Amino acid sequence: MPDTTISRTSRNRDGIANNLIVAVGVSLFCSVLVSAAAVILKPEQQRNEELYRQRIVLDVAGIYEAGGDIEAQFSAIDTRLVELQTGTYVSGIDPQSFDALEARNDPDVSIRVPPELDIAGIRRRSIYSPVYLVRDGDTLTQIVLPVYGSGLWSRMHGFLSLEPDGNTIRGLQFYEHGETPGLGDQIDKPDWRAQWSGKLLTDETGQLRIEVVRGKVIAGEGDEHQVDGLAGATLTGRGVTHLLQYWMGPHGFGPYLQKIAEGNANNG
Ligand SMILES: Cc1cc2nc3c(=O)[nH]c(=O)nc-3n(C[C@H](O)[C@H](O)[C@H](O)COP(=O)(O)O)c2cc1C
Repeated sequence: MPDTTISRTSRNRDGIANNLIVAVGVSLFCSVLVSAAAVILKPEQQRNEELYRQRIVLDVAGIYEAGGDIEAQFSAIDTRLVELQTGTYVSGIDPQSFDALEARNDPDVSIRVPPELDIAGIRRRSIYSPVYLVRDGDTLTQIVLPVYGSGLWSRMHGFLSLEPDGNTIRGLQFYEHGETPGLGDQIDKPDWRAQWSGKLLTDETGQLRIEVVRGKVIAGEGDEHQVDGLAGATLTGRGVTHLLQYWMGPHGFGPYLQKIAEGNANNG
């Protein structure tokens, strides 16, 4: 006589309900595992992102020592918070922990960029921005400013380093963007980046003239404000022009740069 107990049990185990329970259970277990990993690893991830940004600040200022302790090197830089509208330093807020990008979501510390001024396509910006002052002893040697704006496909984030005159560029380096490899991502090429050194933001009348041209820079009047275009990626290059024009202009760091040029921003 066949053992009906065993065949009934195995039929139950293979039933649709059982399979569903196992599938849902495994999915739930896996999703809890993935979520827990994301939550646990988030602080570490944020710390690594911050370290990476600090490295780029050091790099664009030309003072990064490869292989060294980034935090130790960065601690030599004086991080300050500037109120963009007035160009004055802000006290009472920790500049190290203030996140100007996150602040865009907080109506208390951000403003809408009027569409007619929004050439960088950023829509809102924090009313404060960090600036990074590099000193040699008591002497200000460089000012590093965060900049961002739309490229063709993505928001491009970088740092611009200026001489203490607030007008001569030392370097421009992006640390985050989603432009196309081989096209827009030529903004990361050392040869292209090297061209920024020594270029001037404004002319002698104070007009903001910095730009990425289409094609090659032609030697002559105005070439001290120009950098070669990116082959096959004119639109990313235009995005770089626009973000620099916005951030160095009157709605961005303009008032602060004015103070720098007048020699009033080193102290404070
Ligand atoms: C798949 C694809 C990706 C592209 N990526 C970029 C890019 O990242 N940046 C850019 O400026 N142009 C990019 N382009 C090209 C633009 O559509 C446009 O043709 C180009 O910017 C014009 O520059 P040019 O006048 O120097 O050719 C891409 C085109 C294609 C088809």
